[in-house]
Amino acid sequence: MECKKTAPIGVFDSGVGGLTVVREMIRQLPEENIVYFGDTARVPYGSKSQKTIIRFSEQIIRFLKTKQVKAIVIACNTASALALDAVRDEFDVPVMGVVIPGARAAVEATLNQKVGVVGTEATVQSGMYTKIIHEMNPQIQVIEKACPLFVPLVEEGFKEHVVTQEVIEYYLESLRDTDIDAMILGCTHYPLLRSRIKRYLGDKIQIVNPAYETAMDLKAVLEKQQMAHDGVSGRKSQYEFYVSDAAEKFRRFANTVMPFDVPETNVVNIEGY
Ligand code: DGL
Repeated sequence: MECKKTAPIGVFDSGVGGLTVVREMIRQLPEENIVYFGDTARVPYGSKSQKTIIRFSEQIIRFLKTKQVKAIVIACNTASALALDAVRDEFDVPVMGVVIPGARAAVEATLNQKVGVVGTEATVQSGMYTKIIHEMNPQIQVIEKACPLFVPLVEEGFKEHVVTQEVIEYYLESLRDTDIDAMILGCTHYPLLRSRIKRYLGDKIQIVNPAYETAMDLKAVLEKQQMAHDGVSGRKSQYEFYVSDAAEKFRRFANTVMPFDVPETNVVNIEGY
């Protein structure tokens, strides 16, 4: 058992966005070691088919398993929505996604039973957020909206750019005019635009970031299965970063998101897994 407790958590995303989930995991689970994989060669997932997203997810999990991970977090909403059901039972470690925790957080947040969800084309088309929310509470009205341009704007460092404001208004005007009182940021990149989205939507809509609830769920799973790292005073947790392409670009971006200097990032030939 000791070996399992000190083993790392594997986390993956289609690119840099999943770092918003890692950031939250580090806040809530500071003792855990983490191995992150960002599929920078094949991003975006949001415009790809379910078959492809399942294949990518399986390859990445096989790679993370070579790092002896004790659990896997699919930080990508698109892969969580389209691949989690297919891969969950295929591997001998717990695999969890961000959609169920995110849906639960929204169900808890809404007071008038009207929830908005923004995400990639693939996530919205899957209807997975609506399905999971309705399993938790069938009375809740859910409005989903794809906002595909948010991803490249974040990736290109346009967070503060005037163009981003126009895109926010273009996508979110119709949601702002409804009476939803909670909105899920159903894509890992969107929390990086949170303050601008919040400013545009105003105080009547509560913004839900699935990362917080995902880290809480992970903590519960690790404790239940007696796999949580016990922690040793003075020890520093280990964080490793892997990508499928453009390691230096990833590292520069990661340094703007993570609370520490991101170490060397290694390129993996993920098609070989
Ligand atoms: N990481 C993806 C997600 O959370 C967004 C980017 C993409 O389309 O790959 O859905």
